[in-house]
Amino acid sequence: MKKLFNAVTVIGYCFLFVAVVGCNSADKVTKNTINQEEVMEKMSLEDKAHFVIGVGMKGFSGDDAVIGVTESLVPGAAGTTYPLDSLGIPAVVLADGPAGLRIDATREGDDATYYCTHFPIGTLLASTWNTQLVEEVGKAIGEEVKEYGADVLLAPALNIMRNPLCGRNFEYYSEDPVVAGKTAGAYITGVQKNDVGTSIKHFAANNQETNRMNTDAHISQRALREIYLKGFEIAIKEAKPWTVMTSYNYINGTYASESKDLVTTILRDEWGYEGTVMTDWFGGKDGAKQMWAGNEMLQPGKNEQFDSIVAGVKSGKLDVADLDRNVKRVLNLVERSPRFQGYKFSNKPDLKAHAAVTRQSAAEGMVLMKNEKMDAPVLPFGENIKKVALYGCTSYDFIAGGTGSGNVNHAYVVSLVDGLKNGGYTISDEMKSAYETYIADYKKKMEQELEEKAKKDPKTAQLVKFLPGTLPPEKLFTAEELTAQAEASDVALITIGRISGEFLDRKVADFNLNDSEMKLIQQVCDVYHKAGKQVVVLLNIGGVIETASWKDLPNAILCAWQAGQEGGNSVVDVLSGKQSPSGKFTMTWPLKFNDAYSSKNFPIDEDPRIDMLNQGKKGNVRNVDYTDYEEDIYVGYRYFDSFEVPVAYPFGYGLSYTTFEYSDAKITQKNDIYDISVAVKNTGNREGKEVVQVYVSAPDNKAANKPVKELKAFAKTKLLKPGESQTLTLSITAPELASFDETASAWIVAEGEYQFLVGASSQDIKATLSAPVKSFQTKCNDVLKPQVQLNLLRR
Ligand code: BGC
Repeated sequence: MKKLFNAVTVIGYCFLFVAVVGCNSADKVTKNTINQEEVMEKMSLEDKAHFVIGVGMKGFSGDDAVIGVTESLVPGAAGTTYPLDSLGIPAVVLADGPAGLRIDATREGDDATYYCTHFPIGTLLASTWNTQLVEEVGKAIGEEVKEYGADVLLAPALNIMRNPLCGRNFEYYSEDPVVAGKTAGAYITGVQKNDVGTSIKHFAANNQETNRMNTDAHISQRALREIYLKGFEIAIKEAKPWTVMTSYNYINGTYASESKDLVTTILRDEWGYEGTVMTDWFGGKDGAKQMWAGNEMLQPGKNEQFDSIVAGVKSGKLDVADLDRNVKRVLNLVERSPRFQGYKFSNKPDLKAHAAVTRQSAAEGMVLMKNEKMDAPVLPFGENIKKVALYGCTSYDFIAGGTGSGNVNHAYVVSLVDGLKNGGYTISDEMKSAYETYIADYKKKMEQELEEKAKKDPKTAQLVKFLPGTLPPEKLFTAEELTAQAEASDVALITIGRISGEFLDRKVADFNLNDSEMKLIQQVCDVYHKAGKQVVVLLNIGGVIETASWKDLPNAILCAWQAGQEGGNSVVDVLSGKQSPSGKFTMTWPLKFNDAYSSKNFPIDEDPRIDMLNQGKKGNVRNVDYTDYEEDIYVGYRYFDSFEVPVAYPFGYGLSYTTFEYSDAKITQKNDIYDISVAVKNTGNREGKEVVQVYVSAPDNKAANKPVKELKAFAKTKLLKPGESQTLTLSITAPELASFDETASAWIVAEGEYQFLVGASSQDIKATLSAPVKSFQTKCNDVLKPQVQLNLLRR
């Protein structure tokens, strides 16, 4: 950076900007404001160029970087805006990330701690299908943002789960844009209720980690509009995030952050967005072009961006009016920030209350995949179950969330062992110590290997510490050991774990179970079943895995996802029946990895390219330097259901401890609004909540090359007591039924009789309604065209 960042206190700022803007401390309603014209008049070209980029990143001067960390105002935050001290413009603090605030937990020379609550991963939150709950979680996260002195949370992360192997799927919500958009909208609303900002990311099509800074996503205009932009459109229009973060990748030949079509034409002109757009960390190449495009803030700031902006204005390549417009938009962001408003943060958020929020919300997003009725279902554990035999390394080393910028510096993680103990269950201490030694030995071996690597290649070794580590192969037991354990316990619980994170896509081997995991499940099931005892498999994962080859073996399967710092307690709340599971999948679970159509156009087992700042030319390696989205709009269930490809678990699937009956499904129409109502009755003998989904099937969908069904609305019942009913009404508007027509560059609703399918999952339709729909058209701009011929899948 040309100037050194100079941290000053909030009080200092208030004093400084009073002359220019006035400090309204007496009036609680009127907010402090910035007189933009006056401030801008005093800014030199260099001030402006600094102001639209951040303050750089300590230790990463331009040719090297890791995920964001700033040592200034809030240590460990990802970045800040550039302060203009003499003009009374403070730096505002930007901090990750989706599962909670990511800042350093400790500070040099300070005895206090700054731990943040590790909430469940985004995938789990979306699996609740409970937008009210997501909003509550957002509100709790936002309180930590505000009380720890940050201004903008770099979340939520809304990218479509295009393929099961994307390394950051754990941060994302769904393969479906309506679920993703509504969940992100609720999260933003919750966080921003604290008068702090959010940054919905990564706009757009950041669907793989491999070569993420240089890869070119080749996508049809239709798939962009209907799938990859739709979720952003829903969330942005509904919840108005303070900022939007552009993605690293190219879209059809242009970096997202340099694409005026994306950040101005679509985002602002078509969707009416009025906030501030920032890059992802070190994203894009040409600062002047980013400015022109309307990506007004470049984070965390690089020397060459500053040079490019200044030189651009001087040479006339960049119109100063574009720069001024961007400066104003960054000023708008600063103006609404708690820091500018003089908020005196406490550094004492209510961590205790938030632990309760994460515990309860995590339990609601767990998905009960199987609960076989032998004599009686194994879940919830009855009075006869007290002693639990705990298998699987992850049982003893429970995973709270994914790695990278989505990680949180939490004070603790409640392990499954502690969760079981807290729930009044006993486990074998002998097994516990055997597992602990086994895991510690494995970790030591891995550390030694890393040290060796560091000696040979220090740069890579430094980056490796931000990557997901590997988990040990499963510890196996002899038949005698298992028989003895089976005799000594009431039930077996096997945890299968997966860890994934930023920078790396998962491998096919990570999707499949490895030999040791398969053997463990087979052997435990065999011995326990012979002993007349049941087996539960628990999935502590961040993304979909293969289940078809083993799901028949255990008696029950619970997908616990990565459930945050109270994970062990949340799991046991479900196992014990304290909380009835009501999560449903927001993505399809294929039988085999290759069954997902996108799998043939996804980086499979490529070498990871950790080229954070090496933004050279695009190469020509398929699925690394570019990826053809040949599945087009047929992502997830839109593919599986339309092409009748069998799946392990369909989109929208999830069991409960009780059963539900759907009745009285009706549709009424008033102008452009279709109201679908249905009565849901709890017909079992335990309480529970049910997620109702409404899919729409367009007339002649096959001939029209449309999915056989698309989710348009969803709702969740309250907690229904046995015998209790609730009538839910879900609204869909006619424009929401449109498909994107590339020839006309318009959203078009074709006239005809549409079917409205009321379902418990995409493949469990309880009622089919129909209604006539009139034709409708909304013209759009003809932008973001693919530059190459794509071999698109058609029905
Ligand atoms: C990630 C973003 C994150 C940023 C700041 C980047 O590497 O892609 O999601 O917000 O770092 O830490």
